[in-house]
Amino acid sequence: MKKIRRSILRETKCFVTLHSNSFIRKKMQKIIILDFGSQTTQLIGRRVRELDTFCEILPYNKFPYDDPSVIGVILSGSPFSVYDEKAFKLDLMPILSRYPVLGICYGAQLMAQTFGGNVEPAGSREYGRANLQWFDHTNPLFKHFEENSQVWMSHGDTIVNIPSEFKVIGSTEDVQYAAYWCPPNTKLSEGVLSNGLWGVQFHPEVFHSLQGTQLLRNFVVDICGSKQNWSSASFVETAVAELKQQIGSDRVILGLSGGVDSSVAAVLLNRAIGNQLTCIFVDHGMLRKNEFRDVLRDYECLGLNVIGVDASQKFFADLAGVSDPEQKRKIIGRDFVEVFNEQAKQIVNSKSSNGKCRWLAQGTIYPDRIESLNITGKVIKSHHNVGGLPKEMNLQLCEPLKWLFKDEVRRVGRSLGMPEHLITRHPFPGPGLAVRILGDITPEKVRILQEADDIYIRGLREYVDPDGETLYNKVWQAGVVLLSDVCSVGVMGDERTYEHPVALRAVTSTDAMTADWAKLPYDFMARVSNDIINKVKGVNRVCYDISSKPPATIEWE
Ligand code: XMP
Repeated sequence: MKKIRRSILRETKCFVTLHSNSFIRKKMQKIIILDFGSQTTQLIGRRVRELDTFCEILPYNKFPYDDPSVIGVILSGSPFSVYDEKAFKLDLMPILSRYPVLGICYGAQLMAQTFGGNVEPAGSREYGRANLQWFDHTNPLFKHFEENSQVWMSHGDTIVNIPSEFKVIGSTEDVQYAAYWCPPNTKLSEGVLSNGLWGVQFHPEVFHSLQGTQLLRNFVVDICGSKQNWSSASFVETAVAELKQQIGSDRVILGLSGGVDSSVAAVLLNRAIGNQLTCIFVDHGMLRKNEFRDVLRDYECLGLNVIGVDASQKFFADLAGVSDPEQKRKIIGRDFVEVFNEQAKQIVNSKSSNGKCRWLAQGTIYPDRIESLNITGKVIKSHHNVGGLPKEMNLQLCEPLKWLFKDEVRRVGRSLGMPEHLITRHPFPGPGLAVRILGDITPEKVRILQEADDIYIRGLREYVDPDGETLYNKVWQAGVVLLSDVCSVGVMGDERTYEHPVALRAVTSTDAMTADWAKLPYDFMARVSNDIINKVKGVNRVCYDISSKPPATIEWE
């Protein structure tokens, strides 16, 4: 195993004064989104953050009653009907009496039902586009709303009457109680006054509700009083202050992958604690062409203290003859942990650490951590974690991006002055090109794939669409797959060839859960195909993958 380089860290300037610990969570005004299990709950969170307002998504039964920074609450939709035995329920009174509340779909139905309204199965499932044919222009929720505003419905139940204290404020052709409110200071029960509650049976968080963001702005800013001071710059300032306080004079280890999240986490930490941070970047031999060298150089330019470890020989040796995709993943995962741990141990035990290396930092982001609930209320998606550091190292986890969505991570990267090509990088699978070579792995196959992939990715970066955007930035992810166990006949000059096909893949997506194949221009594909066949020895045929996810997946393995 070769150690490539240990850079000398340049001191970076820290420009902030100290704030109290956990400033972000405790002092930043926040909206709480109670998750009743809807698929669009994360989207509500993103929309609120787009309004420069901090929010937390919490399971419906985990309301932070003692948190003084809460300024308003949103109740999400749910896969359940309010009448299901297993429906998620909670005592709403302590929340409704203290905060303005917006119930969306199930959230609206739950509030209506709690105070004596009725919810019944809708005659036909109310799904798709609808128009607010009537709404109360004077209600603060509908400030700046246009006539007949398009909204998106998606519910099997509908509210058939609302409690006497509530007033209808919006209707569509099919849904009489599309929106209602209960003004502040309305008596909800003996001695309990409402702080203002609103219910909408449509989904303002989805793109098809054309004024959904306006509605959320009206609620979050006008009704709840958000000062809209959550921004990437404010995040950097407060996070740097927090990290300084949290870490003090300790040392921190961080694993870099070349991806956006770990890179931004490293630069943020570097700004906070300078050369107390040591990063480890492992090359397993299946990165893109020159990626290890180029990314190491980028990291150095950013002033990071990086140890680059070329462990490709070990990975190739352990992968020899293995073609099963899951087996490949297991071997790569195991070897990665081994190599990383060996380096981490050396740092922890080194003289220069002086027993002060106490932290392992990770680029975990918010969607990695949001707990989704299954039907029994158990957590089905648990915290993402990098595998098994030995206990005796006794390292605590530091996850400075754990409150951010991906687009916010990118904005933070820009605030930190990181180069655009690092920030807009496509996602790349941890096992790298190993899951894009169908069959066993050899250095020669990796070389062929790297060459073809390099032509394709460079082409995507260079091709500018008529609207001024590069194809690379237009697609979510792209790569080449080598069908290394297949050969097909071709002809080159006067020669017959018998070589491998490759498949180009490019998808559009927002979260990789679903994806559509990208409609790349024919002239671009023709040029890339020509270039690959002419320049990459071992490839004589280029195909384009036109499968969407589902039923296909983004990677072929
Ligand atoms: P699929 O192929 O499941 O990919 O549609 C969804 C996203 O996950 C990435 N991916 C992986 N990332 N280790 C990773 O770190 C893996 O084993 C892995 N498999 C798929 C894939 O590139 C896409 O972004």
